[in-house]
Amino acid sequence: MSSNQKKVMLSAIQPSSQLTIGNYIGALRNWVKLQENYDCIFFAVNLHAITVRQDPKMLLEQTYRAIATYLAAGIHPEDAAVFIQSQVPEHTELAWILTCNSYMGELNRMTQFKDKSAKQGANIPAGLFTYPVLMASDILLYDTELVPIGHDQKQHVELTRDIAIRMNNTYGKDLFKVPEVYIPPVGARIMSLQDPTAKMSKSDPDVSSAIYLTDTDDQIRKKLKRAVTDSGTEITDDDTKPGIRNLLAIQSSLTGKSIPELVLSYAGKQYGHLKLETAEIVVQAVAPIRNRADELMSDRAYLDSVLQRGAEKARVRAQRTLKRVYDRMGLVSPQGRA
Ligand code: AMP
Ligand code: TRP
Repeated sequence: MSSNQKKVMLSAIQPSSQLTIGNYIGALRNWVKLQENYDCIFFAVNLHAITVRQDPKMLLEQTYRAIATYLAAGIHPEDAAVFIQSQVPEHTELAWILTCNSYMGELNRMTQFKDKSAKQGANIPAGLFTYPVLMASDILLYDTELVPIGHDQKQHVELTRDIAIRMNNTYGKDLFKVPEVYIPPVGARIMSLQDPTAKMSKSDPDVSSAIYLTDTDDQIRKKLKRAVTDSGTEITDDDTKPGIRNLLAIQSSLTGKSIPELVLSYAGKQYGHLKLETAEIVVQAVAPIRNRADELMSDRAYLDSVLQRGAEKARVRAQRTLKRVYDRMGLVSPQGRA
């Protein structure tokens, strides 16, 4: 199938820290699996990252590292458009138009906004509130049909659909394609190693709570050895053992073995066994990605050439959508009236 007959699949990760195995299992790995069958767009959302304060030097480094990690994990830059959000200014341009078509009430209901704003104290950046609108813009710019994401982002894609449908009703029904959410069935939610009732998050200040895709083999082994479990001994998959459940989920999603199958294989074994074996499985998954990303990071000229090509491909498409929106809304576009 040529790329223009395939459906558009689009996803992105915030370079607000180093990526974790949660990002790998819940996002990246699925992109790699699905990429053959779709016309793919994958980018690093640095403009989303600045909704909370970032150190400029670190942000820049992490942005490149995210792109290097996409490629190291197996994204093909010859087929997919791979770029950095800020390289395609149409994202922020459409975001304004969508902001004017979004309601305070619906943005107020976003659970991620509630969680993140609660951590900000008195000065909540307005960007944290309008962030889902920028995400809607990311998606709607490319006539996206499929958005593979983790469970926590579902609400944002649903909001994107609501905005698209609303604007189609107002400005003509084929203005935007209405995207579908795709949540991978297994391993969609990897939990913190220090608090297995909370999501493993790259923005968790406790670095021992997450396995980063930049961690050395030793760091991975140490973190899993210290992973919080419970005072029991038997390895079972139930609500009272969130730490054990998480280790089983990590193993299951990296090996393809089912949870019941794993539980059976650990009959009569100690928590220590489970931790040790999970660590080796994680090391095997992370090491090749980390090593390849290191190589790519030392060839910035190559990364820049990939990004330049990706951004150019993306801009042509984004400008086409934006022109359609301007024309329908009675706005004079940079290209002039239709
Ligand atoms: P974020 O790290 O919040 O920018 O998320 C980027 C992508 O990775 C989204 O699709 C998330 O749903 C996914 N993701 C992030 N953390 C996890 C996790 N702990 N388990 C599963 N998926 C995750
Ligand atoms: N908000 C997403 C997250 O934090 C990242 C994101 C931004 C995204 N734009 C997107 C994901 C478009 C999918 C599609 O994980």
